[in-house]
Amino acid sequence: MENFNQIESTILDKIEKISDRNTFDTAKTEIFGKKGIVTELFKKIGSLDQNYKKEYASKLNSLKTKITEILEKKLNDLGQSEINKKLKNEKVDVTLPGRSYYSGKIHPVSQVIDEVTSIFSEIGFSVEEGPDIENEYYNFSALNTPKDHPARDMHDTFYLDQSKDLLLRTHTSPVQIRTMLKSKPPFKIIAPGRTYRCDSDQTHSPMFHQLEGLHIDKNINMGHLKGCLYYFVKKFFEVEKVKIRFRPSHFPFTEPSAEVDIGYKIENGKIKVGEGDKWLEVLGCGMVHPNVLKNAKVNPNKYQGYAFGVGLDRLAMLKYGINDLRAFFESDIRWLEFYGFDPLDVPTNYRGLSR
Ligand code: PHE
Repeated sequence: MENFNQIESTILDKIEKISDRNTFDTAKTEIFGKKGIVTELFKKIGSLDQNYKKEYASKLNSLKTKITEILEKKLNDLGQSEINKKLKNEKVDVTLPGRSYYSGKIHPVSQVIDEVTSIFSEIGFSVEEGPDIENEYYNFSALNTPKDHPARDMHDTFYLDQSKDLLLRTHTSPVQIRTMLKSKPPFKIIAPGRTYRCDSDQTHSPMFHQLEGLHIDKNINMGHLKGCLYYFVKKFFEVEKVKIRFRPSHFPFTEPSAEVDIGYKIENGKIKVGEGDKWLEVLGCGMVHPNVLKNAKVNPNKYQGYAFGVGLDRLAMLKYGINDLRAFFESDIRWLEFYGFDPLDVPTNYRGLSR
């Protein structure tokens, strides 16, 4: 017969040495695992002599019960001491200041692009895009802009190579050509994007944003252009009455061409669009020149239409009362915090918590 007392004290020794979860698991395996001390003792029962089988089994069972209880208590104690240790190490200091909540802001230009895109999409314009790096052909030649035109001068245009073929687009008008070459008329598109000119002062930045509009179909005339722009200005500035002035102008790619001014006045130091007797230029437009249609593989005897180009930064300045264009691109987080917009998906109760 096994000496159960001795076995028990060997096991209790092991349990004594347990100091954490790891040593607990090892000890438990050594006792109750597949080849554990107690497991091995159970395996023997089958081969025992009838005479003391019963006594053996009952001693073994009470040993098992005792050890199981001791192990359970040990595990419990270990858990408690781990919790105590954690509590000691991770004290919460309720007197510390709270963490502030930082939420990003939408830049006014992005906001205006969103607004403008949704206004035009309501009347059937779809959105097109073109590359910032253009070639000479799409930016000038295809747009009927002759070789000696002042816009081609180095003072106005950022050329990217000696041959003057690659340049940073000076307007979004090359998207007109790209769109028309890509498919067949009719076309009714807008194209927002970055544009570049060698220019920098309070109202000019070397990089700025434009929105191109192009509507080509069989019976499009200047009346449609006026109607479209009235609709746009009213919607954008959220006013019922608008004063718009079409001033004769010149662009090589439109004939006739016009510049559009909108009426405004200053009231209590704030700009009010749609009333008053001051005028502000906001866009260039006109009927697309037949040469441009030809270059874009559209038959000018069958199709005609209008195009316009709006300065988006200027629209943002006007609508949101921002007076220095350069601040738009200085990446000053305090400026964005003030002039930026809350993203739509941020619950309003977070607003007060942003910096
Ligand atoms: N591309 C012109 C500019 O940048 C604007 C314009 C676009 C004029 C379309 C007429 C038609 O000034």
